[in-house]
Amino acid sequence: MSQDAPSQVEIERVAELREQVAYHLHCYHVLDAPEIADAEFDALFDELAALEQAHPTLQTDTSPTQRVGAPPLSQFEKVRHSRPMLSLDKATTREELELWMQRCRNRLGDGEITFTCEPKIDGVAVALIYEHGELTLAATRGDGNEGENILANVRTIGAIPLTLQNGGPGSVAVPAKIEVRGEIYIPLAHFTTFNAQALAKGDKPMVNPRNGAAGSLRQLDSKVTASRPLTMYCYSLGGTQGEWQPVTQDEVLSTFATWGLRTNPALEVVGDLDACLRYIDKLEARRDALGYEIDGVVIKVNDLAQQERLGSVTRKPRWAIAYKFAAQEATSVVEDVDFQVGRTGAITPVARLQPTFVGGVTVTNATLHNMDEIARLDLHVGDRVMIRRAGDVIPQIATVILSQRPADARAIELPQGCPSCGSAILRQGDEVVVRCSATRDYCPAQRKEGLKHFVSRLALDVDGLGDKLIDQLVDQGLVANAADLFTLTHEQLVALERMGAKSADNLLAALDTAKRTTLPRFIYALGIREVGEATAASLAIHFGDIEALCNADIDALEAVPDVGPIVGQSITEFFAQPEQLKLVTALQQAGVQWPNISVVPAAELPLTGQTWVLTGTLEALSRTVAKQRLTALGAKVAGSVSAKTTVVVAGPGAGSKLEKAQSLGIDVRSEADLMALLSQYADREET
Ligand code: IVH
Repeated sequence: MSQDAPSQVEIERVAELREQVAYHLHCYHVLDAPEIADAEFDALFDELAALEQAHPTLQTDTSPTQRVGAPPLSQFEKVRHSRPMLSLDKATTREELELWMQRCRNRLGDGEITFTCEPKIDGVAVALIYEHGELTLAATRGDGNEGENILANVRTIGAIPLTLQNGGPGSVAVPAKIEVRGEIYIPLAHFTTFNAQALAKGDKPMVNPRNGAAGSLRQLDSKVTASRPLTMYCYSLGGTQGEWQPVTQDEVLSTFATWGLRTNPALEVVGDLDACLRYIDKLEARRDALGYEIDGVVIKVNDLAQQERLGSVTRKPRWAIAYKFAAQEATSVVEDVDFQVGRTGAITPVARLQPTFVGGVTVTNATLHNMDEIARLDLHVGDRVMIRRAGDVIPQIATVILSQRPADARAIELPQGCPSCGSAILRQGDEVVVRCSATRDYCPAQRKEGLKHFVSRLALDVDGLGDKLIDQLVDQGLVANAADLFTLTHEQLVALERMGAKSADNLLAALDTAKRTTLPRFIYALGIREVGEATAASLAIHFGDIEALCNADIDALEAVPDVGPIVGQSITEFFAQPEQLKLVTALQQAGVQWPNISVVPAAELPLTGQTWVLTGTLEALSRTVAKQRLTALGAKVAGSVSAKTTVVVAGPGAGSKLEKAQSLGIDVRSEADLMALLSQYADREET
């Protein structure tokens, strides 16, 4: 026996590890229900890779370690589709949809018809071929008849199984050969993170998630694809050889799921136009919360035999239609670029746009982030641009349409000084952000923005103190800092524009009420750079009082969960300014107060005995922080849903865990509910 020959124990261990790794990839990418921590997964994966490396005879193509490993290609091989990959007819009005259903009925005669409704995902269509359960080919749509083999790239996508698994007793066996079709896409949260990182590194960001997905799949080097956050929803059967004879579209998809393929939980079967329209309305209302981009709903005749009878015309099936939503992209013209000064002095260019209707709203402004972004886009005032709204985020300029640049287009330059106070503009180190060099006390814009933050809902929550009023108070020299708000008099207020005696009284009463706050709110209200609501709560719980926080050095700060070097430095810099310390004292002297935070015995914590599960994307809090804060309140935070689960917090993109929670009748809440609860308890913990 050669030195390299694996022992029986090693052979068995490799098989066991492959099964475990494949299982956990499925839990993580397909079910959105990881059962082990990332580090534990890495340990299994590394052990498998090490064994395979030590014993090359144990290596196989279907091993999960082989997802990234193909050498770069010089070109993609062409593949003919077994059956053409069709496109869809579209409907943009309810009437068109009604007419389509009517045509289906007329052609099919009497038989009852049901329809499936599914999100129309804005990604890239692909066909996957599995032979004896193994992924052997993945093809793009191409011209519908012939596409390209992108197998090496597709193998890097965690959500796509390399091997289909039989679903267990009673379920359908995986056919000898099967073609699965679906859409590969980039979830919005990943798209945003990817672009933020690309911009920070000076790399080119993706124009939109669909382009990003297409570009990622077109890479000749699969290592590049592997670094892109792609996933897939499978939506139809391209063909099958073997015994399986599915009857309906929804049976196809539910069977796919039993084999480990990722299918969209938002599929519903409806019986008539009204139910279909209700689905459309419901989905459109949830569009921003889905976590991925869609451009409509695909409605399909559910019965596969009926689909066959309806057939297709000119590359479009008669049995399906796409109901399209308002586009999230549109072109507009940049009429001007303004520079806004934020509460921390950051100066941000904002494009003023010709009002344009996009994704259901009229857009007049788009953020440009920073000067690097303007340079990257090569944006000029006067340019025609492609704008896009993704989810409910602020509209962005995706690209400049250079071919339409007018002769008098004007280059955009950073102003000489701060647009508010005229002070010099600074760029720190390699930060892309530029800032006003003056402090909040000198720069009116920073002062106004700081005050707006101080009175905002998650901070001191002063009712009836809007942006316009703050602008007036600052412009008239009545308020220089937050403490001055509490010395305002009835006489001063009634002298302001549009302020009656009653409103003045109400505002004074609201200011009085706001004085009784909580330590997390107070810390957040100070407007320290990098300190959001969640960090403020962590700081409050950790330090217990404001003096300890003011005096904390960087090491003490970094001991707080959720605080790293950048946040830590920002906090120490903030409290190193004498005027900030003075403000803290002045606010306390003005009567701003909060109850002490006391350490509550574990048995009395508000969530003791409860088990919480977090699923989908959380936007305001990182998962780690959400978990830590729930745990601090006595809850256990689990990775999977069971009958013992008390509450499931479901964010955009929640999948099987949410479904399971619903089927078990478990209390399901949104991230907003979680935030409300946490702030309520952050308040209550202080007795
Ligand atoms: S069914 C003939 N279902 O839309 C059946 N397509 O314009 C066509 N798409 O190329 C595919 N989500 O890329 C189907 N749930 C869905 C879909 C979907 C997105 C795309 C697909 C196709 C295009 C048709």
